[in-house]
Parts: sequence; C-alpha cells; structure tokens
Amino acid sequence: MKLYTTISSLQEALKGERAKGFKIGFVPTMGALHKGHLSLVERAGEMSDIVVVSIFVNPNQFNDKTDLANYPRTLDSDMALLGTVKCDYIICPSVTEIYPVPDTRKFEFGLLETVMEGQFRPGHFNGVAQVVSRLFEIVVPDLAFFGRKDFQQLAIIKDLVRQLKLPVGIVPCNIVRESDGLAMSSRNKLLLPQHRECAPLIYHTLSEAKELSFTKTVAEIKAFVAERINSNSLLTLEYFEIVDDTSLISVKDWKDPGIKVGCIALYAGKVRLIDNIIFTD
Ligand code: PAF
Repeated sequence: MKLYTTISSLQEALKGERAKGFKIGFVPTMGALHKGHLSLVERAGEMSDIVVVSIFVNPNQFNDKTDLANYPRTLDSDMALLGTVKCDYIICPSVTEIYPVPDTRKFEFGLLETVMEGQFRPGHFNGVAQVVSRLFEIVVPDLAFFGRKDFQQLAIIKDLVRQLKLPVGIVPCNIVRESDGLAMSSRNKLLLPQHRECAPLIYHTLSEAKELSFTKTVAEIKAFVAERINSNSLLTLEYFEIVDDTSLISVKDWKDPGIKVGCIALYAGKVRLIDNIIFTD
C-alpha cells in the first residue's frame, strides 16, 4: 500500500500498472473511513487488479462551512483500516493539487439535482461532480465504486459519466449497517450519545414502512414515516420522499412503473443523516 500526496507521483505509478494490462478500480472517499468504505474497497479488489483509494475532503461540495470545518479528518486510522484490505494506492492530495485554479464549471443535472438533497444542499452536487470528474481525470479508472447510501449522488454520478462520455463503469455497492440498523456514515462519529441511541429508529421506520407498503398507499406511508420520526423529540425530519430510482421523479402510486426508493434526511441534534430503502420494483 503506497500513499501519495501528489497527482504526478500517483499517475507515474498507475502508468506502470496499466502497461502490465492491469484493470484499475477506484474508490473516492473523503476519509473518516468505516466498514461501509471498506466494503467498497473490498468490492474493488474483487473486480479489479489494482485498487486506488482517494482521501480528499472536497470543500466545493460543502454548502455549510461549519459542516466542512467539523468534518472528521482521521488519516492515521484511515490508513490502518485500509491496511486490512487489498488497497494498492492511496492518494491524499491538497486542495491546490485538485484545484490548481478555482473550478467554475457548472453542471446541469435537471431534476436529479433539484429534488431532495438538492433542495436542502444547494451547490452540493455541482461540487461532487467537479471533484469526481477531476478525480476520474487523474486516476482514469476502469471501474469506480460508490455506496447506495448516497443514493442521489449515485444517480448524479451515473448521469455525469453519461454526459461526459467517460469510459468508466460505475459499480453501486450496498449499504452497510451497524448491528442495530444505523447506516454506516462518517457523520455517525459526530453523534452525541443520546442521538446515537435513537438513530436506529431511522432504519426501523424505513423497514416498517416497507412492510406496510403492501397494504397502504404512498401518501399513507409518507405520513407514517413523518409521524414516526417526528414523534421522537431528538430527531427532526427534513424530508422523506419515495422516488423512481433512475429519474428521481416522486412516486404517486405503487402501480407506477420502475424501482421505488424511499429516501430520508433528518437531523439528530446538529448532525444530518441520510438513509434509504428499496420498496418495490
Ligand atoms: O461520497 C463521498 O464521500 C463524496 O461525495 C465523494 C464521492 C468522495 C466526492 O467527494
């Protein structure tokens, strides 16, 4: 496992690997790694010859500067965790390496960027598109691995690859959960004990909503989730939406065609958490 901080040194190493005919799998991260990230790295190891992980807290995707300042930075434990799986190269670049000049590109994702997260985190997906396209340009991976927890991000990245006609396969990876159901997230580290204790209610509510979806309407399920979350005084619901998994169009009826995903965002104290569940296809 080699750690690089400069793009040129990583590119030099990858040139050698590519010359040997090796397929490159890439896992972009913002660090503060947990088992969810490790499952992406493991999947990359199964599907490619060489695994590259980037650790870069991308300022351009934070619409809230306090959130950026508070984002956990844990390089030593990230390295230790990556040492437990197949990871060949880590790139941990500075902001100026990634953005030698300010990135002013404006991407257009239509509805994909305006609903749900887009409504509450203006500019967030543009920043994600900037950094992911930049990282793809640097690493030139054959495959790139993204978690389904960031469900809307995944839809955006698939669209980015389509728009830019990038020769990279996007591999979605399943959500990894704590034993009590809480979806793994770097932000979980920031939860106060009382919020951590009630956070499993999120997945329990989504699971119950899925069960109830066989007998209740879409509107009833939305009302059920809102009521359940808001009845806990430590949690504040931001949104719960049921959308088509590709277009992100809001589902009105279970009979609508396509795969339906229930997406939730809420605050547990000052920490914003997201999760989702696939309802039906
Ligand atoms: O999902 C993340 O951790 C980030 O949004 C990503 C894809 C690494 C881009 O900064």
